[in-house]
Amino acid sequence: MKRFTYLIVALLLVSGIKVKADEGMWLPMFIDRLNYVDMQKKGLQLTPEEIYSVNHSSLKDAIVGLSNSPAPNGYFCTGEIVSSQGLLFTNHHCGFDAIQKHSTVEHDYLADGFWAMSFEEELPNEGLTASFLIRMDDVTDSIIPMISDTLEGSARTAAIREITGRLKNNASEDGKYNVVVKSFFNGNEYYLFVYEVYRDVRLVGAPPSSIGKYGGDTDNWMWPRHTGDFSIFRVYTAPDGSPAEYSEDNVPMVPKHHLPVSLDGVEKGDFAMIWGYPGSTDRYLTAKGVEFTTEYYFPPLIEAFGKKLEVWKKHMNADQEVRIKYASQYAGVANSWKYFIGQRRGVKNLDVVGDKEKYQQEFMDWVNADQARKEKYGTVISDIDNKIVEQEQTIKPLIYASVCGIGGSGIVSYAQQFSGLEGKMEKIKEEKDKKKRAKQEEKLSEMATGMIEGIPEHFKDYDMATDKEAFAEMTKMYYERLSSDMYPELLVDLHKKFKGDFYAIADYVFEKSVFGSAQKTEEFLKDPKYKTLEKDPAFILSKQYMAGIMKASQSYRKENPKADKAERLYMEAMREMQPDRYFYPNANSTLRFTYGQVLPYNPADAVEYDYVTHLSGVMAKEDPTNNEFIVAPKLKELYETKDYGPYANEEGRMVVCFLTNNDITGGNSGSPVINGKGELIGLAFDGNWEAMSSDIAFAPKLQRTIVADARYVLFIIDKFAGCTRLIDELTIHKKMPQPERVEVIEEVPAE
Ligand code: ARG
Repeated sequence: MKRFTYLIVALLLVSGIKVKADEGMWLPMFIDRLNYVDMQKKGLQLTPEEIYSVNHSSLKDAIVGLSNSPAPNGYFCTGEIVSSQGLLFTNHHCGFDAIQKHSTVEHDYLADGFWAMSFEEELPNEGLTASFLIRMDDVTDSIIPMISDTLEGSARTAAIREITGRLKNNASEDGKYNVVVKSFFNGNEYYLFVYEVYRDVRLVGAPPSSIGKYGGDTDNWMWPRHTGDFSIFRVYTAPDGSPAEYSEDNVPMVPKHHLPVSLDGVEKGDFAMIWGYPGSTDRYLTAKGVEFTTEYYFPPLIEAFGKKLEVWKKHMNADQEVRIKYASQYAGVANSWKYFIGQRRGVKNLDVVGDKEKYQQEFMDWVNADQARKEKYGTVISDIDNKIVEQEQTIKPLIYASVCGIGGSGIVSYAQQFSGLEGKMEKIKEEKDKKKRAKQEEKLSEMATGMIEGIPEHFKDYDMATDKEAFAEMTKMYYERLSSDMYPELLVDLHKKFKGDFYAIADYVFEKSVFGSAQKTEEFLKDPKYKTLEKDPAFILSKQYMAGIMKASQSYRKENPKADKAERLYMEAMREMQPDRYFYPNANSTLRFTYGQVLPYNPADAVEYDYVTHLSGVMAKEDPTNNEFIVAPKLKELYETKDYGPYANEEGRMVVCFLTNNDITGGNSGSPVINGKGELIGLAFDGNWEAMSSDIAFAPKLQRTIVADARYVLFIIDKFAGCTRLIDELTIHKKMPQPERVEVIEEVPAE
């Protein structure tokens, strides 16, 4: 994940030096113009054409956006193609959901790992897609000049959507491509992205969580790290090479480019670039905007997520089946929860607000020095901040209603999915015409049949006792934190009836609702009765919570044309004020690259962190009583016999993770870390605790990307899993054969 303090920006302003990497998530199409010379100086040996070309195969053709949508607008993670047969590397935490879905108590791939020893054993994943960028175009001039400057709010959005709709249509080649147009620099620029989306992506391999998630939530977001955070997939195509739904006839993809893997390892100062799909950053917020995020937005989330995790954990610890069922949801919520806490802390420690205020002072001085500027930009900051002040008052109900209300329990959020069915039923009730009614009824039964098919998938990851307690605790929090105008009517009644005992309310709801059990839901769907639905307490609650969310969302998202325009103008003004500074756009789930170096850091006064960790560190952290720090016997054996094959470093030690100062964020997970020769040296998987403010401000001295070393990844595949068929597929580059080094003893450092 990644950052820059505005103090530095202010200094640069004075001195007029250009802001260069390592901060910045750059757009590939501008590599030649903006970054190439600097990259070359730092150690890049490829030409711009070898990296990003629209006409020839290039490095960008090996970079993949992962999504659960057939026509994605964004990507949850990044992957990279590493063989001529469509083999794809990403993080273990990116594959986690797929691995979890394939897991049962009998085949616990989360605990034991999974290795397909042949193509036939590779497992399809319904819904998972892999997107490849074909090209990107600047379409600003097709949009901005067509939009009146006075058009704001939803009218502006609609006008822009109309134009982008046309642009997308033209570029899609009759649906062959998925085309996305996105706004950059707060609506000052627009770019169009053309993707080819592959829909048959299979699970090939995953280490056990004791490797892929070693250190668990304790080590998450932190260095020193000892996690082999990787998993392996393969992209399949129709026999003619085109994207296709899963079919037995499909064949491994023949990619335009795949990354070779280097076994030469890294040294301090080495060039490193990272390509991928960073999700979102907010680097150009005002000071008030930063305060809003950390003081109004995060606190209710931290409270609600914290409670939910506590409840889930209790049940997961008590039962292996529950642990598997909730593993993926738990990991996701725990990751966000720690991120919110870390970011608040980082923003405070690094005085991001103070830096922003200083920058804003410089900005206002610059504005006030010129009459024309004063007229154009004089109120931009206050216009933006006025909107934020309003939002401070409206964010709280929205969050508690989303996280504790509709999303507080599986039963209520599942019940909400039946609102479509309710709509159909209401139509039927109103329909007088017999014939039309029969038709509608047929449609209803089709819909119900479809929903019956989805029942096993929902209940596979559902445990009623866990959910009941989550419901009780989340409902209680909702009730205590919000005022009565946000209470669902039914909740008021139940609260009275059960004298404020939320566990008794939960008993009642779960007893009366059909949505807590697969069997009852199926019975209902086989012959769906309007009356059953209308009386179902979970369904009623879902409806009433939704009404509350709509209300809260309306006040939170109230149109504020003045502020929208001010955001655009503020960005424009900053760029005008600093003509020599290379501005990069905020992350928005489009392909970016960031470049920098392999580097250590000082996390605190007198403390130095090395830039690599070793297998000895895995052993040192071992704790058989804590499931986050279990070490697999096989891994210990390899460590003890130093059976590292060609994957050890020059000292005969096994490197596990390393650090770079690249600028990444969520969505970059799984991204390839690439050396100056275009070879894969590792997989980016995390940011560091001391620089958690990174999504708001880059902290050059502190900010690091945590990378799983490619040599460790190959070592696990080869020596730990014995999945040598995958090693054979890779293009492996290694300078020199390694010397014999059996006698090297790797010490376990004493704690
Ligand atoms: N913090 C990482 C990210 O957001 C995810 C790490 C997953 N590991 C874990 N122990 N939950 O990309």
